Amino acid sequence: MVGLIYGSAALALDSLTPSQLAFIHALPKAELHAHLNGSIPVSELREMALEFNSRTSDKAASDLVHDGITKLQNGVVLDEIYDFFNLFPAIYALTSNPASLGRATRAVLEQFLGGSYPQCTYLELRSTPRETADMSRLDYVRTVLDEVERYPKSRAALIVSLDRKMSAEVIQECVGVASQLKAEGRRVVGVDLCGDPQAGDMNILGEHFADAKKAGLGITLHIAETPANPADETIQLLSYAPDRLGHATFLNDEAKAIVRGNKTCIELCLSSNLLCKTVTKLEDHHIRYYLQHDHPIAICTDDTLPFRTSLTGEYALLLAAQPLGLGLSEGEVRRIAEMSMAARFGQ
Ligand code: IMP
Ligand code: ZN
Repeated sequence: MVGLIYGSAALALDSLTPSQLAFIHALPKAELHAHLNGSIPVSELREMALEFNSRTSDKAASDLVHDGITKLQNGVVLDEIYDFFNLFPAIYALTSNPASLGRATRAVLEQFLGGSYPQCTYLELRSTPRETADMSRLDYVRTVLDEVERYPKSRAALIVSLDRKMSAEVIQECVGVASQLKAEGRRVVGVDLCGDPQAGDMNILGEHFADAKKAGLGITLHIAETPANPADETIQLLSYAPDRLGHATFLNDEAKAIVRGNKTCIELCLSSNLLCKTVTKLEDHHIRYYLQHDHPIAICTDDTLPFRTSLTGEYALLLAAQPLGLGLSEGEVRRIAEMSMAARFGQ
């Protein structure tokens, strides 16, 4: 199932020749930055919302879900990145017990890995463990893993996300859950730092990332996602020796020198940045900087649900002629796909 896509990625995809499209489909590529609750196919979410609303007598919850799903179905217009985070309470109302979380995870995995032309060869899905009335954080991660592990190791793995708003205790619990499950032989391959780019205290993270590393987990961090992220925060996050970085849109020269020196792979999400307005237009995207310096990158979707994109669509943005795309050659696009495969945590 490819799913419906809209906007820049859809226009780029439409402009490709059949042979260019076949080239993208055949390219071995890894999706390394996809948030579970931001990647549920809208058709699945709509069904889940209908079932939820037929069951609940909580009018406020029913209205929240109805409004949220209507927005997502119609396509959200984001004035700035913070509008984006307000979309999640409606989605979370629908994935708050093991059965619904498992169902959503199955649909996300099928979206990326199923069908005649899978979006990617390998998916490293990420999700933030949530404690609800029906599950602990450990139950949450086990439920997601049960679905991920239906696919072979060469196709799917899980990254446990830490939200910037979490307390030190909850961060410790999440890293503990990830480490414990990895030690049990479950397919957790890394930890991520995500959430509202201006929230949280970045000073509390060091020891927890050190623990995650000791447990053999890879580390990826959303970093410098907005102009409001201070340079000293970026340098501090880099001091935790991440293996990969998400977005890295606003790095200053000092941060760029560290990232290039360490050859840290950057997970780049073109549509996400354009729609959240952290990048004004494709030709100004920081991908150009990394390409010029032959620096490791991976092209990813971030959240296919609100951004209404797909990995095929994001690769179309690389290959399509300007101004619809970046006009890269097939050789350049192949090299980018190879870099994504080389940056997998679960190799
Ligand atoms: P989940 O971790 O499966 O619940 O996926 C949704 C969550 O991912 C959101 O609530 C955010 O915390 C996080 N997220 C999704 N996209 C972004 C992003 O672009 N920047 C930072 N955090 C994000
Ligand atoms: Zn992200």
